[in-house]
Amino acid sequence: MSSWTSGYISEVAYTAGFYRELTPAMLELAALGKSVLTTQATAPLTMCELGCGRGVSTNVLAAANPHSQFYATDFNPAHIVEARTLAAAAGSKNVHFFDSSFADFLNEPSLPQFDIIALHGILSWISEENRRTIVAFIARHLKPGGLAYVSYNCMPGWASASPLRRLMMEFGSLHHDAAFTRLNRALEMLGKLKEANARYFAASPGVAERLEKFKTQNKNYLIHEFLNEDWHPFYHMDVTAEFAEAKLTFLGSAHLLDHVDALNMTEAQRNFLNEIEDVALRETTRDYIVNQQFRRDIFIKGGVPLGLFAARERWQEMRFALSINRADAPTKVTGGLGEAAMQPEVYGPFLDALATGPRTLKSMQSIPAVAELGWARSIQALLVLVGSGHVQPCLDDKNDGKRREATRRFNRAVMENARHSADVQALASPVTGGGVGVDRFEQLFLLARLNKHPDAPTFVWQVLSALGQRLLRDGVAIETPEQNLEELRTRHATFQEKRLPVFEQLGLT
Ligand SMILES: C[S@@+](CC[C@H](N)C(=O)[O-])C[C@H]1O[C@@H](n2cnc3c(N)ncnc32)[C@H](O)[C@@H]1O
Repeated sequence: MSSWTSGYISEVAYTAGFYRELTPAMLELAALGKSVLTTQATAPLTMCELGCGRGVSTNVLAAANPHSQFYATDFNPAHIVEARTLAAAAGSKNVHFFDSSFADFLNEPSLPQFDIIALHGILSWISEENRRTIVAFIARHLKPGGLAYVSYNCMPGWASASPLRRLMMEFGSLHHDAAFTRLNRALEMLGKLKEANARYFAASPGVAERLEKFKTQNKNYLIHEFLNEDWHPFYHMDVTAEFAEAKLTFLGSAHLLDHVDALNMTEAQRNFLNEIEDVALRETTRDYIVNQQFRRDIFIKGGVPLGLFAARERWQEMRFALSINRADAPTKVTGGLGEAAMQPEVYGPFLDALATGPRTLKSMQSIPAVAELGWARSIQALLVLVGSGHVQPCLDDKNDGKRREATRRFNRAVMENARHSADVQALASPVTGGGVGVDRFEQLFLLARLNKHPDAPTFVWQVLSALGQRLLRDGVAIETPEQNLEELRTRHATFQEKRLPVFEQLGLT
């Protein structure tokens, strides 16, 4: 172990994900859902990501919000090289990456005060000392009224599987092998333990399935999730107590489906919960009701309630955009209670309205079918649609032109990378100020379009065949060039019919 890692894995890079909960407009909406005053995402914000990994989230957000300044640190220099390379290729001038540890970053002199400090996938995987440093950082650098986003593994959802992780870690650290070897050995030993009919598996619901799932999961992710020295699932109320030291109070979940009680708890459960006066204890007890295993908490430094009138005005001003094909909109949503039907008379009017382009709630309220729903049902419908990922909150259209310039440069840089890599699967939207999931083939189709290539499938096949790559159908490599091209033509037709119109509305073309 190198001395700078404090037991954290540094030899294997983390995955290159975009996490939409970090998006300023999403955080603003979550605060609005709780009727709490926050700085709007259209204002020039300062945002900081602690433990940014390979920097995809911060890079996407910087491109999509050129009016704001983004700072991020990760002590793994390989992560920061990648993050800076992408920022340079995109020409982003509003993003600043550091390879500092949290302890060094605490005293970094060039930092401003922040409106948002975010840490995704960090808190459960670091030491108590580092947690204290993070609280000190937030205390020093978060503006009054600022938001802190923090996700972590929690109890009681991890109660039955925690022993699995412990053995994984122990088997994985028996020898000083490469991380992949250690992971494979740990998984092999746990598999053998299960085959030996260890009673732990029979007595712990869901654990055998979890172990089975590991076989299909990204190994870099598994190494970072389970083989670090630190791994702590927390009770929400303990996190609340630690963050209170930085004058923070819990605002709500960044996962908007959590805001809709009807999806997560029966009426009897809600009534029971309402008997608990202490907010932190109530929220922790709620985690038992839904058996929560991962939390995405938003804290605020100085929560001020928005009056009814101001909250309503902000809701009405907010624009929304559809990020799926209208015809494919799911008819079900999954919450803590399992699957619930999305009634067409509630969701249909919003989906139909947004299928024509981004719109404010105010403009949708003039549609009779929306007006009929009334205020409370409209707000709940929007929270469900955004929470399920079908609809995104947007920035207003005032500075759309500047944002388009920045996202065009950034998206081209990502799409050029897609020629040889499938790592980054998100592009930046000037409409939402956030990221959009776009896979490698879709990126290459978009690149062909941008380059005015007369035949996109042929362009993509040229890219793949130059690297000796072939497509997969049902997990099997397609053999001949003709068959590969045929498959690409089928995918391109689907792309043009279903995805391109959505990408156009989100400003990706
Ligand atoms: C699980 S990854 C999450 C990365 C990113 N937030 C994401 O969700 O994609 C945790 C990251 O924290 C970084 N990290 C861990 N301890 C750190 C420390 N003490 N100082 C700075 N970065 C740290 C690691 O290098 C790693 O990239």
